[in-house]
Amino acid sequence: MAFTQRHLLGLEGVPAEEINAILDTAASFKEISDRDIKKVPALRGKTVINLFYEPSTRTRTSFEIAAKRLSADTVNISTSSSSTTKGETLADTARNLEAMRPDTIVVRHPSSGACHLLARHVSCPIINAGDGCHEHPTQALLDLLTIREHRGDVAGLTVAIVGDLLHSRVGRSNLHALRTLGANVRLVGPPTLLPVEFRALGAELHTSLASGVRDADVIMMLRIQRERQGANFFPSVDEYSQYFCLNEQAVRLAKPNVIIMHPGPLNRGLEISSEVADGPYSVIMDQVTNGLAVRMALLYLLIVRSKAEGPGEAAEVESAAEPKRRLGGARA
Ligand code: CP
Repeated sequence: MAFTQRHLLGLEGVPAEEINAILDTAASFKEISDRDIKKVPALRGKTVINLFYEPSTRTRTSFEIAAKRLSADTVNISTSSSSTTKGETLADTARNLEAMRPDTIVVRHPSSGACHLLARHVSCPIINAGDGCHEHPTQALLDLLTIREHRGDVAGLTVAIVGDLLHSRVGRSNLHALRTLGANVRLVGPPTLLPVEFRALGAELHTSLASGVRDADVIMMLRIQRERQGANFFPSVDEYSQYFCLNEQAVRLAKPNVIIMHPGPLNRGLEISSEVADGPYSVIMDQVTNGLAVRMALLYLLIVRSKAEGPGEAAEVESAAEPKRRLGGARA
């Protein structure tokens, strides 16, 4: 199975076989983190730059650990330590970083499209770690791996994505990827946070939590993005939680083997109750664990591909089976 992406800027338009190639590779990498010595030499001598212009706990840490588990060197740059505070443009920052010959740049930025802009200015692979309200592809990939582990084939499952769909890059990436893999997607939230354009992407829209989660196989809760809400999209936090907070009563409407997901960070009591977040159907910590494997897979696939690619060549990188065979006993 081939992986042909040059960057990972989003999941819109990425074919099912490429998504499955990433997930298969991630699944094969999971056991490395269970070893006594959690390191393989796959990316020895490579450099990964994490360029984060927004706060992050899970994504930034897991990219750093993922690179280290593959023996790559990592450099972390945040807003406060970057020369953009002195007026440098994002493109100039990226060009200067590229002049130091990194093998990939992982970018989180508050502006939608920032990663696409950088991909036009540098030749090394860019990985989108969340750009504004646009996409967060690695989050959706780790969500898919988690769904696959708990429920098998994604095709035919009913997935309810609940919350601030208007501002959620997690929701958008999941919508694209879940539809590509054949899931039925319900988007659930107040009308002000539920763009009708998503119907054209094959989603059902629900303004009632009960109808949205009824008989669902997967309920994916989204964080209320208060930092991106320039206006009042609901009258009050209390009113939002009264209608859309996932509690045990709402969970009982879903399939008996439903799984409950949340990308984090959680707003407990606002979009999800603690009983549900910490309850028997929650797979939230599995999502975090899978985030590491997915990011290892992407770093491996993108860096190996970019090194394999000569001028004018359309190199393809093998996924799951081959790295597993090659890395099986290898330890750094
Ligand atoms: N899910 C997610 O992106 O979390 P962080 O903001 O902590 O990276």
